[in-house]
Amino acid sequence: MTNSTETPGYSQKVYKPAQEYRDDARIKDYALSYANFEKDPEDFWRRVASDLLWFKPWDKVKEWDYPHAKWFVNAKCNITYNCLERHLKNNRRNKVALFWHGEDETEKIYTYDRLYKAVMQFANALKNLHVGKGDVVCIYMPTVPEQIIAMLACARIGAIHTVVFAGYGASALNERIVGSGAKIVITADVAFRRGRTIPLKPIVEEALIHAPSVERVVVLRIQDPPTALLDDFEVDFYEIMKKADKECPPEEMDAEDTLFILYTSGTTGAPKGIVHTCGGYMVGAYYTTKYVLNVKDDDVYWCTADPGWITGHTYAIYGPLLLGSTIFMTEHTPDYPDLGIWWHLIEAYGINVFYTAPTAIRMFMRYGETWPNKYDLSSLRILASVGEPLNPEAFEWFYHVIGKEKCPIIDTWWQTETGSHMITTLAGEDMKPGYVGKPIPGITADVFDKEGNPVPPNQAGYLAITNPWPSMMRRDHNDEERYKTYWNSKDCQYYSTNDLAIKDEDGYIMIIGRSDDLIIVSGHNIGSTEVESALISHHAVAEAAAIGKPDPVTGNQVKVFVILIEGTTVTEKLIHDLKYHVRQTLGPIAVPAEIEFVDSLPKTRSGKIMRRVLKAKEMGIDPGDISTLDE
Ligand code: PRX
Repeated sequence: MTNSTETPGYSQKVYKPAQEYRDDARIKDYALSYANFEKDPEDFWRRVASDLLWFKPWDKVKEWDYPHAKWFVNAKCNITYNCLERHLKNNRRNKVALFWHGEDETEKIYTYDRLYKAVMQFANALKNLHVGKGDVVCIYMPTVPEQIIAMLACARIGAIHTVVFAGYGASALNERIVGSGAKIVITADVAFRRGRTIPLKPIVEEALIHAPSVERVVVLRIQDPPTALLDDFEVDFYEIMKKADKECPPEEMDAEDTLFILYTSGTTGAPKGIVHTCGGYMVGAYYTTKYVLNVKDDDVYWCTADPGWITGHTYAIYGPLLLGSTIFMTEHTPDYPDLGIWWHLIEAYGINVFYTAPTAIRMFMRYGETWPNKYDLSSLRILASVGEPLNPEAFEWFYHVIGKEKCPIIDTWWQTETGSHMITTLAGEDMKPGYVGKPIPGITADVFDKEGNPVPPNQAGYLAITNPWPSMMRRDHNDEERYKTYWNSKDCQYYSTNDLAIKDEDGYIMIIGRSDDLIIVSGHNIGSTEVESALISHHAVAEAAAIGKPDPVTGNQVKVFVILIEGTTVTEKLIHDLKYHVRQTLGPIAVPAEIEFVDSLPKTRSGKIMRRVLKAKEMGIDPGDISTLDE
């Protein structure tokens, strides 16, 4: 039973979860829990971290030297010890850690014990390739169990993984390999997607043409007959694993050692290499999976994100494994072989907690209720969303059609940089469609004007996190100065999220968009400049500007404005070539849906493209302050 009421202002509706959901929540009283955190923030995080196993405890919970923070100072740990051994010790040896379902209907099941053994043996295989603590390993793989094994094996021996989404093209992959200085690349011969076989190895080969740091490539060979390997340089995933020793004790990592680098699109220049650490990230992932997603011991949990993104890192892999949960993972896209596949999988595996993205929800909405209604979704207990605003229409559909008006909808706001959830409505709390909710206990956030003053309720402003938190990024691997731009004001020492938001009188926050030039397509960040650089590298293009154009399903589409080199004629073939060129450079997600050829672009007097003006014109709205526009 739920109760929906209308309230004035921006919020139109409030959904009150049924009592059984309030009882089921791990944080039963948000106000009390938040007040406890505020009373003594360090003690709050000390208590959370104490649930986990540490080889050596910390001397201090936090050390804040603006804009750099250290958490769990001098503590020693290993995230895999907490993801694996901790559960073996707690009678979960034979519990399923991972159900994996392939597009061809094959299934793989790993218990905690099997996963532990596989991780240790692959970790030794990496050691045999002379990978050690601090070395960077690039993982460019499809969504298969071996990807998780590879990530955990790196963490086991203190190697730093940098996972690159397997949909990226050769040049984006090259940029990430070179940027991180990866020593080893782990890939697969192919990936399966929507019934097609997509060769990955040729993309890696192209990406490695100018990547001198790479010593070896490990190839998971899926196809039969097996793809040929280049002697010495390329090695087979299972062959090196079979030859390796079985026992691999966890490397003792300092809490502040790097666990991984994950690249995310920046607004300018090269992608940002977001660095997360062994201790703080582990605590953030554990805490939020437990208290926000409320995953329980006998749940089957499915986060649909690819491990190539931060959501895949924190909530498809590390968070649930830290909790000792049963993860479900699949290669299946939501619409292949038909629009019922995800609902079928929820029924077949008895999924209890389902975490997905608004773009998928909006795609399903287009096709109505018939597909989900064919399946028994009664196992679902909690529904969660991430990546972009869950607009009220999508909320309602998710809530009524999928959750049958009983499952709480947890709309989680966070970023690659934050490592774990920051602002959300906790299970059991009142829900307001369109609002993500309040900062979770442990996190302080508010909405400010340009000068750093809090804005009154219901007025738009800049969303900032006002204190450091354990899973915050520690640096940009390639650009120390860029890290500092997040903590932009010495006076207030706030972390600026670059999101615009509104807070209502109850403290609920609504995210209204980015304040920078990031385009979010289906929850994936695409930097305007990345698309522009890709286009400009085509011989026919003189200048280009990319904007996000609102789209009912994907949130945004990439639209580009292109100035061609003098004398170039616009043809269908040229349009096709430009799209193909972007696809080859950045991958399919960045391909422009629309290309408009123009003679000039709006620029500031200092020569910066004013994408805001292009966007306003495109949407038929007021461009705002154009005083800097060069006439
Ligand atoms: O603009 C916000 C949007 O996604 C950005 C972060 O993107 P990324 O680093 O790729 O991480 C995505 C997964 C955490 C944010 O600055 N965003 C993320 N979650 C939400 C959101 N916008 C609205 N509602 C959300 N729940």
